[in-house]
This record gives sequence, structure tokens and C-alpha cells, in this order.
Amino acid sequence: MNNKSLPLIYVALDFETAEEANRLTEQLDAKLVGLKVGKELFTAAGPELVKNWVEHGFSVFLDLKFHDIPNTVAQAVVQAARLGVDVVNVHASGGRKMMATAKQALEKESHQPLLIAVTVLTSMTDEDLTEIGVHRNAQEQVMALAKLTQSAGLDGVVCSAQEAEILKSTLGESFKLMTPGIRPKGSQQDDQKRVMTPQQAQQAGVDFMVIGRPITKASDPAQAVSDIIASLSR
Ligand code: C5P
Repeated sequence: MNNKSLPLIYVALDFETAEEANRLTEQLDAKLVGLKVGKELFTAAGPELVKNWVEHGFSVFLDLKFHDIPNTVAQAVVQAARLGVDVVNVHASGGRKMMATAKQALEKESHQPLLIAVTVLTSMTDEDLTEIGVHRNAQEQVMALAKLTQSAGLDGVVCSAQEAEILKSTLGESFKLMTPGIRPKGSQQDDQKRVMTPQQAQQAGVDFMVIGRPITKASDPAQAVSDIIASLSR
């Protein structure tokens, strides 16, 4: 079982190469932040990079959003567990059987990452959903898939901080929320549409924050992390 306490902040490593990513992680303290590795970096640099960070004490969120038949997804999350990552995710739209099979497979592993799900991609509009045969609006679909995720036995969902309060009140405190779209006061919004500051996200009850560019593009990334942590209440 994974009993270690996980960091509040996961730094999104949206880089093309291992070298660029390592230049950043060398400036970060594994006691203060975790690392989020997504499809771009993982496809470019592979599992060795992740294993190396785990060996250096970093908590890693492997953000590969698996979506396939239950057996394939279960085998994939087991491999993620064996890399030593602490959080891994799947698409809730893969369905109950896919999610439950993945969770059950992880329960047999000695190191068990949190298994969370993506509900509706924030890039999707209500019209996009209609086009793929989903006739609920995005907000209703987020809630329906979050409930399905919980009933399939998963640990939580990726969601926007705006949805955090309603998700916590509906699904309970122990259901984990991982939220991107976080911008410290005064930082650039980039392409994020609806943002919250770290303090607001903390007040809304999120368990983990994914923060990318405000840290990765800062002139002093370690200082950016300290400033964010200092802005939070303990
Ligand atoms: O740089 P920034 O803080 O915007 O990075 C946010 C990270 O979270 C990126 O890796 C982005 O792909 C991811 N993400 C997001 N919105 C979602 C899901 C994931 O911004 N709804």
C-alpha cells in the first residue's frame, strides 16, 4: 500500500526532451513538489526518465490518460505502478469495467499509485459532446463520470478548481481532486481560460494542484515554488 504523503503541487513537465526536463528538475526540491509527466515527454524520453526521478525521491504523476479495453488498461497501470509513480490516470469514459479492472489489478501490486480519472477534457464544448453522442452538457457529464469513477472504486478525478467544491460536497472529502488551471496572482494566464490562484484552489478543497508554466518558465523556478507554498495556509 502507498502510505507516503504526497506533495500538494505537481509541476507539469511539458518538455520535448529529457535534457530540457532535467534542467528544470535539477532546480526543484523533491520534498516540496512532485512531477507530472505527460504524453509528449513520456513518448520522447520513456520510462527510464521517470524511474530516475523516482529514484531521486520525486513523487511522479504519470498523466497518460489510458483508454482501452479493460485488460490492456489494467496491464498499463500495473506497469506504471512498477515504475514507482504515485499517481496514474485513465479516461472515465472507458467505463466502469475498464476502471474497476485497472483498480483491482493495482491492488495486487506492492506499490499502489492513486488511480484517478479524467472526466471531460476541458477542450470539449457542449457541441463537441453532442457530436460524439453525449447529450448531457459538459458540467452534467463531468458530474456523471465523477460519480461513475467513484463507484468503480477509483481514488479521484482530474477536475477544474471551479468544480472542486461541488465535487467534494457530492462525492465526499476522501475523493481526491487533482486540478490544473492554477495561476498565482500576477502570473500570465497563457492559454488557460478559467483559472484560480493556489490559495483559491486550496480553499475550494483540491488535494493536488498541477502547475506548469508559472514554475517552468519562471526565471527562478525554485523561488516560484517557494512563493506559491508561502502563499498557502498550512
Ligand atoms: O502550464 P500550465 O500550468 O497551464 O500546465 C497545466 C498542465 O495541466 C498541462 O500539462 C496541461 O496539459 C494539463 N491540463 C490542463 N487542463 C486540463 C487537463 C490537463 O491544463 N483540463
